[in-house]
Amino acid sequence: MFGSTHLLGNGAAVLAEHDALKATAARMRGLCKALSHEKKPPLVEINQLLSVFSAGLSANFATEEQDGYFGSLVSARPECDVLVAHLHAEHVQLTEAVEALRNRARTEGRNPQLGFFLGRTLDQFQAHERSENRLLQEFFLLDEGGEGE
Ligand SMILES: [Fe+2]
Repeated sequence: MFGSTHLLGNGAAVLAEHDALKATAARMRGLCKALSHEKKPPLVEINQLLSVFSAGLSANFATEEQDGYFGSLVSARPECDVLVAHLHAEHVQLTEAVEALRNRARTEGRNPQLGFFLGRTLDQFQAHERSENRLLQEFFLLDEGGEGE
């Protein structure tokens, strides 16, 4: 038998992290809108939210990259290795993008492009989440069908 049970063990942690990240991402979308208004949100609020998002992202990526999650997925479905490698690469890109945003917010504060870069990073994050969810859904569908067991 393959190991969706093993994957599910970690999956609960990942789902909880995703929920928290989604809530933070929604607050950040609100921030994007606020940044386009004349009366900008205070810098301290921007930095605080970016810091929360950065910490949540790092924790979530670390959980996903543990052997019991992506690792068990690739062991069970070696054909997924390219997709999982792509998801790993996106983790690196997103981490760098959020770090760049934090630097931009710290050094350029009220830069009119901050909202644009913030929105673009959120789009990338949401596209990443969709790809990952699709992969996991396919994985569980195949596993329930009993293929390869
Ligand atoms: Fe991920």
